[in-house]
Amino acid sequence: MNRPLIGIVTGAAGGIGSAIALRLAAEGARLIITDLDRGGLERVADEHASRNSGSDVGKLIPVEGDATDSALSEKLVSSALDAFGQINVLVNCSGWLKDDRVQSMSPDLFGRLLDINLVGPMRLAGAVLPHMKAQRYGRIVSLSSRAFLGNFGSSGYSAAKGALVGATRSLALSFAPYGVTVNCIAPGFIDTPMSRSMPPHIVERVIGSIPVGRAGTVDDVGALVSFLAGEHSGYITGQTILACGGRSISGALTAPQTPPKGASK
Ligand SMILES: NC(=O)c1ccc[n+]([C@@H]2O[C@H](COP(=O)([O-])OP(=O)(O)OC[C@H]3O[C@@H](n4cnc5c(N)ncnc54)[C@H](O)[C@@H]3O)[C@@H](O)[C@H]2O)c1
Repeated sequence: MNRPLIGIVTGAAGGIGSAIALRLAAEGARLIITDLDRGGLERVADEHASRNSGSDVGKLIPVEGDATDSALSEKLVSSALDAFGQINVLVNCSGWLKDDRVQSMSPDLFGRLLDINLVGPMRLAGAVLPHMKAQRYGRIVSLSSRAFLGNFGSSGYSAAKGALVGATRSLALSFAPYGVTVNCIAPGFIDTPMSRSMPPHIVERVIGSIPVGRAGTVDDVGALVSFLAGEHSGYITGQTILACGGRSISGALTAPQTPPKGASK
């Protein structure tokens, strides 16, 4: 029998995070789910309860919080320990995407992109790792993005998601001797509210450039999280797995060209 997953999923009111929480809970996981969006978290917990009507398979406990709040990580760890007595999995899924052309970006915006997409997830990793190390077992899976390879118009987001890859590799080396694996998933275009917040003409170009010929689904990511968070992935650590329908091998899009003023058409 597989070891039951016990721990924390962040960004769990969002498109990918809610699908991950529901999938893991359906597989028997007991999880603290967290997000800025309290109503969204409650809808996810209710959906799990109604899908499993009365059975005690899996459990989702909502704890609202802001990833930029330095007190949140300890609150989440104590909530998990109080409710379940241990933590063996952390899925970092909260994130924020904002068009941030570096030419017009304020330092505040750059800092906020780093705080939400990098500092928050790493602070939480730092809070769960001592528990995982002590029990000689743990799994951390963080949502980076294919944007770490470079995306036009998203320097801060790409920087944060790239730094998450570096931090993951470093943590993996530090904790490998203790049975703890640390990995990233780097999705390409997954159909969620975040990706649909991009301008429609960009969405159309991106989807047109995906070799497998479609946008990704939340289940494409959920299946991978389920494997990496589980017991059978113990020989994989420090890795960033691209789930992007082959876009990373087919060349990135560049910004649309605007002809110089006065040029003939
Ligand atoms: N959708 C995609 O195409 C795509 C591609 C690559 C990477 N990702 C990454 O996957 C993860 C999930 O993305 P998604 O598409 O589900 O996006 P989403 O916007 O649907 O979900 C993100 C969640 O993070 C939460 N969040 C944002 N700021 C927060 C904060 N300060 N504190 C706490 N929670 C906060 C939001 O409330 C939201 O529920 C993100 O890390 C994102 O960067 C998504």
